[in-house]
Amino acid sequence: MARSDPHSFFDDAQPRARHLDLELQADFATRRLAGFVRCNFDRSTGGRVDLDTRGLSIASVHDVHDEAIPFTLHAEGPILGQRLELALPPGTDAILIDFATSPNASGLQWLEPAQTDGRRHPFLFSQCQAIHARSLVPCQDSPRARLTYRAALTVPAPLVAVMAAASRGERAAAAGTRTFAFEMPQPIPPYLLALAVGDLASHDVGPRSRVWAEVGLVEAAAHEFAELESMLVAAESLFGPYEWERFDLLVLPPSFPYGGMENPRLTFLTPTLLAGDRSLVDVVVHELAHAWTGNLVTNASQEHFWLNEGATVWAERRILEALHGPEAAMMSWAVNQPSLDNAMARFGSASPLTRLRTELRGVDPDEVFSSIPYEKGARFLHVLELEVGRARFDAFMRAYMRRFRFTSITTEEFVEFLEAELPGAAAAVQANRWLYEPGMPATTPTLKRSARLDAVTAAAASWKSGRRPDAATVSAWSPTEMLLYLQHLPRPLSHEDCAWLAQQLELDGRRNAEIQVEWFTIAARSDYEPARPAIGGFLQRVGRLKYLRPLYGALMQSQRSQPFARKVFETASPGYHGTARRMVAAILDR
Ligand code: BES
Ligand code: ZN
Repeated sequence: MARSDPHSFFDDAQPRARHLDLELQADFATRRLAGFVRCNFDRSTGGRVDLDTRGLSIASVHDVHDEAIPFTLHAEGPILGQRLELALPPGTDAILIDFATSPNASGLQWLEPAQTDGRRHPFLFSQCQAIHARSLVPCQDSPRARLTYRAALTVPAPLVAVMAAASRGERAAAAGTRTFAFEMPQPIPPYLLALAVGDLASHDVGPRSRVWAEVGLVEAAAHEFAELESMLVAAESLFGPYEWERFDLLVLPPSFPYGGMENPRLTFLTPTLLAGDRSLVDVVVHELAHAWTGNLVTNASQEHFWLNEGATVWAERRILEALHGPEAAMMSWAVNQPSLDNAMARFGSASPLTRLRTELRGVDPDEVFSSIPYEKGARFLHVLELEVGRARFDAFMRAYMRRFRFTSITTEEFVEFLEAELPGAAAAVQANRWLYEPGMPATTPTLKRSARLDAVTAAAASWKSGRRPDAATVSAWSPTEMLLYLQHLPRPLSHEDCAWLAQQLELDGRRNAEIQVEWFTIAARSDYEPARPAIGGFLQRVGRLKYLRPLYGALMQSQRSQPFARKVFETASPGYHGTARRMVAAILDR
C-alpha cells in the first residue's frame, strides 16, 4: 500500500481513475447535485480501490454491463471524510457510481437570490481547493491523481452553467431545464474541478478571453479586466506558452471566500476586485501565474503548498514588473509584507507551521491557511534569484516548468532539480533553513525600495510626531500607496485622528476594497463608532476570508466592540461560505 498524501485515501498501488465522465443535475430546491460518474481506470486488473468522499449519498456502484460492484462506505473520520472502498472484479476497467451531494457539501455554496447581484435567481458555485472535490464527486482526491474529464450539467432554465473546462455547447434537455456540456482534456489535480450556475452572461475581452458575471455586472467586469491579453503575452514571454487555450474569468457573488481561484481556463474571482479603476487586477495576474505554477506544476500534497503559492507570488511579481515596471513589483512586495509579519506573529516564529515544507497529518489545511507559503515561499525563490542572477534563475524556472509540466511534485523533488540545474545554489542560500525550519532565515533579502515607497512609509512613520499629509500629497497617491500608508499607521488611533483620516483621505467614498478594509481595521481597532455601520454592512455582504480575519480580529481586540462583532456574525453567518463560518467562529471563540 502506498498512501503518500495525508489528506487522501488515494493509494497509488491501486488502479487509478484517469478519466471521469460526469452527468449531474443541479436541484436548487433540495440543494443537491445528483447523477452519476463513470470512472475509467488505467488498468483492468481489478482489486481494491479507495475513493475519497465527503457527505455523498452513494446509491449504487456497477460496471458498464450493469453488474453490481461491492462497495463499503466507511464511517466519517475527522478531516478526510468517508472512504469509499470498492472491490473491482478482475477485468473491470470502468465503473459507474450513482450518487448525490449533501446540501452542506463543503465544496459547494448554494445561494439564495437575495445573495446575488440580480436578486432574482439563485446561484451555485464550487470551491474544491484544498480537499473539497470529494464532497462533489467520489474521486481519488489527491493532487498526484491527475485526471481528465467530460461533464454534462443540467440546470433549471434560464440559468447558465459554466465549468473550468472547454465548453462543448448546450444539449437538448427536458422542458424547464438546460444541459451544458464540458470537456477538460488536460490532466488536472482534482482540486481544480470547478463549476458555477447562475444568471450569467459573458463579454469577450480578448482573442482567448472573456469575462463571465451575473448579467448586471458583466459590463463593469469587462471594463475592470480588459487587460487580460497583455497579461497573457507578458506571462508567456517569461514562462513559455500558455497551455490551457483560454483564460476566462468568472466574477462570483460576494460570499465567494477567496480573492481568486485559479480554476483552469476559468479563474473564479471575488466581486470585491471591481474597484472601477483596475487597481486590484494583481489578483488576476496571480491566478494567471498559477497556469504555470500550480496548474501545470502542482504540489504533490498540502505539505508542499508553498510550491503552488510561493512560486505563484514570485511569478506574479515578475509579470507585474514586465507589465508596469520595477516600481509596481516593489510595491507588491511591500504591501504584502504586513500579511507575512502578521502570520508569523499569529503562529509564533518557532511554530512548525511557519516552515515551507509542512507536516499536516491530522491537520485540516483550511485551518492552517496563511500567508507563510505565499510570502516566505516567494522570498525564498527571490533569494535564489539574487544568488544566481536573474538570467540564470529565469532559465531555471522555465526548465522547471518544462520538466514537471502536468505532474505533481514534492519539495524534495524541487530541491533535487534545483541542485542538478544550479549546483551549489541551495547551499549558498541555506535552502534547508527556508524549507525545513520555522521563522524567517537570517539570510532574508532586504527588498529593493524606491523613493516613492520610502516617501509613503516615512509619511506614515511621522504620524506619531504629529505630521499629517496635505491634500496634494494624498491626491498624488496611487491606490496602492494609500494602502501602504494606512498599513503603516499606528493603531489604535484617537477618535479625532480617525475622523481626520476619514475626511482627509475621503475614506467613505473609496471603492478599492483593500483600502476600505485597512481603514475599517484601523477604525475597529480604535473603537471608532462612526465607522460601525459601514463595517457591519461590509461584513454582512462580503465573505472573503482575507478580509473577515483582520476585521473580526480587530473588533474582538476591544471589549467594547466584541458584542458588535458577535451581533454582526449572527446575522451575517448564514450567508457565509462554510469555510468562512468556521474561521470566524474560531476567532470569536478565542
Ligand atoms: N489558490 C488560491 C486560493 C486558495 C488557496 C483556495 C488554498 C483554497 C485553498 C489562490 O490562488 C489565491 O492565492 N488567492 C488569493 C489571492 C492572491 C493574490 C494572493 C486570495 O484569495 O486572497
Ligand atoms: Zn494562489
